[in-house]
Amino acid sequence: MFDFTGKAVFVAGGSSGINLGIADAFAAAGASLAIASRSAERVEAASAQLRRHGGKVLGRSADVRDYAAISAALAAAHAEFGEIDVLVSGAAGNFPALALGMSANAFKTVVDIDLLGTFNVLRAGHQYLRKPGAAVINISAPQSWNPMPLQVHACAAKAGVDQVMRVLAMEWGGDGIRVNSIAPGPIEGTEGFKRLSTPELRQKMASRVPLRRFGTLDDCASLALFLASPLASWITGALIPVDGGWSLYGAGLSSTQLALEAGAVPGRSSESR
Ligand code: NAP
Ligand code: COA
Repeated sequence: MFDFTGKAVFVAGGSSGINLGIADAFAAAGASLAIASRSAERVEAASAQLRRHGGKVLGRSADVRDYAAISAALAAAHAEFGEIDVLVSGAAGNFPALALGMSANAFKTVVDIDLLGTFNVLRAGHQYLRKPGAAVINISAPQSWNPMPLQVHACAAKAGVDQVMRVLAMEWGGDGIRVNSIAPGPIEGTEGFKRLSTPELRQKMASRVPLRRFGTLDDCASLALFLASPLASWITGALIPVDGGWSLYGAGLSSTQLALEAGAVPGRSSESR
């Protein structure tokens, strides 16, 4: 449906899940792709997946918290592909924990990845964006406007991500750059979905999604393609949920609220990557 042949797309955090789904959809639509995340192995595996579409792919290992590292990845994409047409900022970290169950550093870690990381990606990326014409897309979440227990770090971070989006939509509109946010609801099979719910909680949640199903990677990718396309040429500063209407019910139906009510507050995970 969309043709991005000849366009250059950079996806920060593009080595897995929703962000890789978005990168994959742009690659399938003919774009050259640059992706960056921390793990070189994950970046390599994702790059191999993207190359199957036949276009150019550049993978770089970079932590969005490290301004110099993410700047270098953006510069490499610019050197390889020229001006960047679409910049996606989707790197994020999350774990369920009560505020009293997280250290100041735990809170800071998520804020640093999601919020400072998004500022870094956009601040460093601006010089390489096509002017006029570029589209910037932040990956937000319903935590941005729905307060959710066990999510004080992500709620604060994603609310900040959306205000960064709105301010830069105002500051960069004159350059012909549009800046928007996508807020996915529960997307099946993803790391975020696994971390924030249990099989039992998922059953409770599913029947309460107005459109009666969880989301897919394609649901998110379709919105990203639309936002980057000429069909969205007068849309900027918008936060658009792609969630089957799930967030209309507010935080009461979030997996973390259900976990709290069930007395099933997840314990400290030993997993860390
Ligand atoms: P995911 O597969 O874990 O994706 C996160 C990506 O970010 C990974 O590729 C990870 O790769 C990268 N990343 C993490 N920390 C990074 C850092 N410091 N620097 C650079 N890259 C980093 O999770 P997901 O569930 O698909 O989530 C993707 C996005 O969707 C996030 O922004 C999330 O908040 C949002 N979202 C997800 C859901 C959902 O249902 N899953 C719902 C709402 C919003 P490395 O480990 O290699 O760094
Ligand atoms: N509960 C409470 N605190 C936790 C926690 C949990 N489940 N998991 C990690 N933390 C704390 C750590 O203890 C540490 O705090 P401390 O120094 O006071 O002990 C702090 O968070 C940072 O942890 P660390 O493992 O050093 O961070 P990292 O930068 O290596 O990894 C994470 C960042 C913790 C967010 C990690 O889970 C990650 O990399 N996630 C990426 C994938 C992801 O979350 N995907 C879903 C996206 S929605």
